[in-house]
Amino acid sequence: MANTVKKFPEGFLWGGAISANQAEGAWNVGGKGLSTADVAVYRKHLKRDEYEKHYLITNEQIEEAMKDPTDKKYPKRRGIDFYHRYKEDLALFAEMGFKVLRTSIAWTRIFPRGDESEPNEEGLRFYENLFKEMRKHGIEPLVTLSHYEMPLYLVNEYGGWTNRKVVDFFVHYAKTVFSRYKELVKYWLTFNEIDSIIRHPFTSGGIVPERFEHLEQAIFQALHHQFVASALAVKYCHEIIPDAKIGCMLTRLLTYPYSCHPEDVLLAQKDNQFNYFSSDVQVRGEYPKFMNRYFREKNIVIEKKVGDDEILKQHTVDFLSFSYYMSLVNSINAEQMDKVCGNIAGGVKNPYLETSEWGWQIDPVGLRIALNDLYDRYQIPLFVVENGLGATDKIEEDGSIQDDYRIDYLKKHIEQVYEAIQDGVEVMGYTSWGCIDIISASTSEMEKRYGFIYVDQDNDGNGTLKRIPKKSFYWYKEVISENGLKC
Ligand code: BG6
Repeated sequence: MANTVKKFPEGFLWGGAISANQAEGAWNVGGKGLSTADVAVYRKHLKRDEYEKHYLITNEQIEEAMKDPTDKKYPKRRGIDFYHRYKEDLALFAEMGFKVLRTSIAWTRIFPRGDESEPNEEGLRFYENLFKEMRKHGIEPLVTLSHYEMPLYLVNEYGGWTNRKVVDFFVHYAKTVFSRYKELVKYWLTFNEIDSIIRHPFTSGGIVPERFEHLEQAIFQALHHQFVASALAVKYCHEIIPDAKIGCMLTRLLTYPYSCHPEDVLLAQKDNQFNYFSSDVQVRGEYPKFMNRYFREKNIVIEKKVGDDEILKQHTVDFLSFSYYMSLVNSINAEQMDKVCGNIAGGVKNPYLETSEWGWQIDPVGLRIALNDLYDRYQIPLFVVENGLGATDKIEEDGSIQDDYRIDYLKKHIEQVYEAIQDGVEVMGYTSWGCIDIISASTSEMEKRYGFIYVDQDNDGNGTLKRIPKKSFYWYKEVISENGLKC
């Protein structure tokens, strides 16, 4: 009997995703300035309780990093040398049949300090060549303006995103790249996981916790500035590139109640609402009412400039993109229960799910639930721009990498995207995270690999950087050529 295929809609954007700070390396090449990502230290396999401390960057750490001219402790400085090897990498993505590649622009390549009036031509040229090369292969660029990095100068001299002036600097940067790449880039995202500033204020907002008395106040003020900056980016993108689409990007942290006890259900509902806060602002154009109570109880007062509410209202996004790796569980009895933890969020252990090597709860059906929930709430097109399995890979004696575990993870998740589409959800595309092995965002490890393509480099930066297609490479190639899953 002939194979049947679970076909995706025509024009579905299949591809992969990386970010500038985890892939490019070349941290001090081409006039690039120092960014927050260049300060991120390597930590091997963190335990559950260690993540929070790891994210609280101190003045001392920054000073130490600024003095260090090497990439030894700071793997994002070297990345996987995508900066010099992108042609080879794009050729491999093209071989898999990618329709789209999500990457980001490093703000510090365009404005090394962040507050200059004139951009750095060498940085602009690098991305122009990169996007042209993508187009040569028929790969549509999907570009994030800010993915976990900002100029370190803005952190030290202005207090990061807590300072309103950073909105103007960012808008200037956004207008510069929209104007320069208007013929090349038709899909844009504003801030990667904009909600993540709440979990790691330095990585996402350039906030050094010890510099602020009321940290949460600083975080939500900075987030407000990012909302305004994001809305203004939407406005200028629409003006400068009328045929482009620009979206927001959310970390979808789907939370289940542990039991049907109403208090558990309420707790999970609150967690989910809190997770929707940023997308509510960016899609609906206003702060959701449920945040009033949160702000009141935490003694947080958001300072808004006259006109901010109109800006948010008028310039909402065209589509919503999100990352999805795992689901979470909450309970009123959480204290006494077994816990699990990913890099960004943890919670109560779900007895029905397995976990990855890094402790993330694997839940493909959760992706279908997330897609349905988001579509019910917003009724705008959705884009799964991150999903994948971080795992240790082994090179076999014959030189191959048999990553069946990755194929299994991706297949089950893609199947659920298919089901969600059958449910009526509008999904624009799917870009699996770390389509080539890159440096981990949370811990700067190399051994937590997500890619279809293996990169020969270890945690300490040893290796030839040779690229080797894994078994999943050929599997994904078939998915794309079939425009769906063979069953
Ligand atoms: C997402 C980020 O939160 O998770 C990516 O947008 C990141 O930048 C990905 O790499 C996976 O996390 P990690 O810590 O395993 O690299």
